Amino acid sequence: MSTVLIIGAGGVGGVVTHKCAQVPEVFSEIILASRTIEKCETIKNQLNKPIRTARVDADEVEQVVALIRNVEPDLVINTALPYQDLTIMEACLRTKTDYLDTANYESPEAAVFCYKQQWAFHEKFKDQGIMALLGCGFDPGVTNVFCAYAQKNHFDEIHYVDIVDCNAGEHGHPFATNFNPEINIREVTGKGKYYENGRWLETEPLSIHRPFDLPAVGTTEMYLLYHEEMESLVKNIPHIKRMRFWMSFSNEYLTHLRVLQNVGMTGIDPVDFEGHKIVPLQFLKRLLPDPSSLAPTYKGRTCIGCMIRGIKDAKPREYFVYNICDHAQCYKEVKAQAVSYTTGVPAMIGALLMLNKTWRGKGVFNVEEFDPNSFMACLNRYGLPWKEQLHLPGNVLA
Ligand SMILES: NC(=O)c1ccc[n+]([C@@H]2O[C@H](COP(=O)([O-])OP(=O)(O)OC[C@H]3O[C@@H](n4cnc5c(N)ncnc54)[C@H](OP(=O)(O)O)[C@@H]3O)[C@@H](O)[C@H]2O)c1
Repeated sequence: MSTVLIIGAGGVGGVVTHKCAQVPEVFSEIILASRTIEKCETIKNQLNKPIRTARVDADEVEQVVALIRNVEPDLVINTALPYQDLTIMEACLRTKTDYLDTANYESPEAAVFCYKQQWAFHEKFKDQGIMALLGCGFDPGVTNVFCAYAQKNHFDEIHYVDIVDCNAGEHGHPFATNFNPEINIREVTGKGKYYENGRWLETEPLSIHRPFDLPAVGTTEMYLLYHEEMESLVKNIPHIKRMRFWMSFSNEYLTHLRVLQNVGMTGIDPVDFEGHKIVPLQFLKRLLPDPSSLAPTYKGRTCIGCMIRGIKDAKPREYFVYNICDHAQCYKEVKAQAVSYTTGVPAMIGALLMLNKTWRGKGVFNVEEFDPNSFMACLNRYGLPWKEQLHLPGNVLA
């Protein structure tokens, strides 16, 4: 029996709240807090179980501290934006409360995302006897667990990992992002980067791409991106030689993005407009559909997984582990599309494993540092069943 405080009532926060409410034997009390309280109320009204709501500006440490002192949660789940990671962690530290999030810290002023500032909390969390679990969505999150599961159950040495994230869904808008537009566009327009033989190699944005033939979604063009789970995975997979991350984009999405970039609408430096300072990307976010509003009409499926090659019993081995998720099914269950669903379900599972003490530690951790088998069992039980095969699909990777 635990009290959980969820901060951030967007697409992902809505799914986490629904899924926690489905497991009342663990999450006996739920408080959903966000900057816009009306969004908390909308989610509250979708549930069969009563929850409490609150208004909080999570950029203000004092506000988060006051809220935590008021509701006394056993755990804070951060589903606001990466900008709020450090303030919420600081508030957890001051109140000796466990913490979980789904995306690593970014500063609004620079589109650089890395774990450095969050890992820097490790000793302080350890001294207070509390735990932080970082990046517990799907990617990062389940993709880290997939690698840990492969390492534990299928390989003596993992040498090559290709993470594939394909969304073959249709939302019916000419241009929209599947999660927060500002965070999504900062990620996609950044330089690509992958890991090879102990070094990080940089590529021009979206310059490397190739088709992948994936289960349930068919042949799809995928683009090499930098993605944050690689930063911790290359540290935690001992024999890794190369790690890459691939994501699908439709031609329509890429054409719109190119135009928006060319006219300066994706910029993050403030510009003067009729006496006001505005950040073009923040203004663009205002005009784009809210990711949660895509859910009612979204059709099609996602396929996210890890293609892994290495050695088992002195012989080469291939392994592919993945999940297929259907947008319309997610809407039916929790009023969300599959990108929010695939992020929110693992956050609930991470919270459950922390609260029932299956995953425990003092300090700051990434998910691959804990036993993956219990998490994999929960994925099957709570809505994200996975499949595995001992060969890579269709076009084997070079
Ligand atoms: N690991 C993964 O697989 C994965 C995948 C997708 C997304 N994510 C992460 O999930 C998080 C949420 O994404 P989303 O799509 O749900 O975004 P979203 O729909 O934009 O929701 C974000 C929510 O946070 C609230 N918020 C923003 N600033 C706040 C503040 N200062 N104080 C309190 N609340 C604040 C927003 O409130 P307002 O409505 O008032 O602005 C909004 O309700 C992001 O960090 C994203 O990077 C992770």
